[in-house]
Amino acid sequence: MARIALVTYDPRPEPSKDADFPVLLSALREAGVEADGVFWDDADVDWAAYDLVVIRSTWDYSWRADEFAAWTRKVEAVTRLANPADVVRWNADKRYLGELAAAGVPTVPTRYVAPGEPAGLPEGGEYVIKPASGAGARYAARYTPDGHGTAVRHLARMHAEGLTAMVQPYVRGIDAGGERALQFFGGRLLHASRKRAVLAPGTAFDADKVAHPGLEPWTPSPAELAVAERALAAVPDAPELLYARVDLVDGDDGEPRVMELELVEPNLFLFLHPQSLPHVVAGIRTAAAAAAATVAPAQAAAPAPDGARNPGAVNP
Ligand SMILES: Nc1ncnc2c1ncn2[C@@H]1O[C@H](COP(=O)(O)OP(=O)(O)OP(=O)(O)O)[C@@H](O)[C@H]1O
Ligand SMILES: [Mg+2]
Repeated sequence: MARIALVTYDPRPEPSKDADFPVLLSALREAGVEADGVFWDDADVDWAAYDLVVIRSTWDYSWRADEFAAWTRKVEAVTRLANPADVVRWNADKRYLGELAAAGVPTVPTRYVAPGEPAGLPEGGEYVIKPASGAGARYAARYTPDGHGTAVRHLARMHAEGLTAMVQPYVRGIDAGGERALQFFGGRLLHASRKRAVLAPGTAFDADKVAHPGLEPWTPSPAELAVAERALAAVPDAPELLYARVDLVDGDDGEPRVMELELVEPNLFLFLHPQSLPHVVAGIRTAAAAAAATVAPAQAAAPAPDGARNPGAVNP
């Protein structure tokens, strides 16, 4: 039988923010899958003992980017990782949005300002500054032209931390239509959700934000589905994706545009979509069976290590 590691972050001393994790782990086990919940940075885990390692909620990775990238390569050297390490590397740097735009995918217009480059902030209209690597709206803020001084300090702070900045027009459509997250799992649409705008005017860039205000189920329009599928089709080298989330907002023309393509550790919002749980379990089982079937014969013939559970396994 295939063995699966479901991977999360170590939240201690706080409780985990991933409400879906224990539910998914139990559902996998109830379906007869041998699944362990593990912390990605637990040095005691024997990754080779798993047929498939599924990244779920490694939510501390964005400020530990190098360590996390090294971990993905380490895991992939000994077993199957979902999503693959190359996908994680590409997606962890939001310069991918510029690549999607260059490939003709409708995206939120973005200018990148690396440390040492001139700010060139917009003269008119409201705009957003945020980091090219980050999550949870960390270091994101919106500005009107009279907030120029604060915006320059914001840029300087990010540059001092080595972060490249993204400068985008503030997309007005988000105030009326919110931001829609289309989630794909095992190659098909799983479900969609909508959340309200996160960036209130005047909120400081280093303030904590509510990441998913007013989250609710959403039925995607044909136009949203089409843009999401174009974004997924534009991922370099057409990798196999176990999971993907495409975040869309309406541009000034009313057409959906990609705000973010999340292929590293998307929150699946299963608590909002309990009917999706069996599809996620089935998707993981199928991926694990495929991974187990492609294990080298010598490896497959080796005896199991005492049938013991992995010492790094936890029950988050
Ligand atoms: N150009 C923009 N116009 C309007 N709102 C924006 C813009 N960019 C970001 N926001 C708001 O800030 C939030 C966070 O931005 P974004 O999703 O790009 O970064 P993130 O840190 O990856 O966030 P998360 O991980 O929570 O999705 C968005 O959900 C949206 O509400
Ligand atoms: Mg986002």
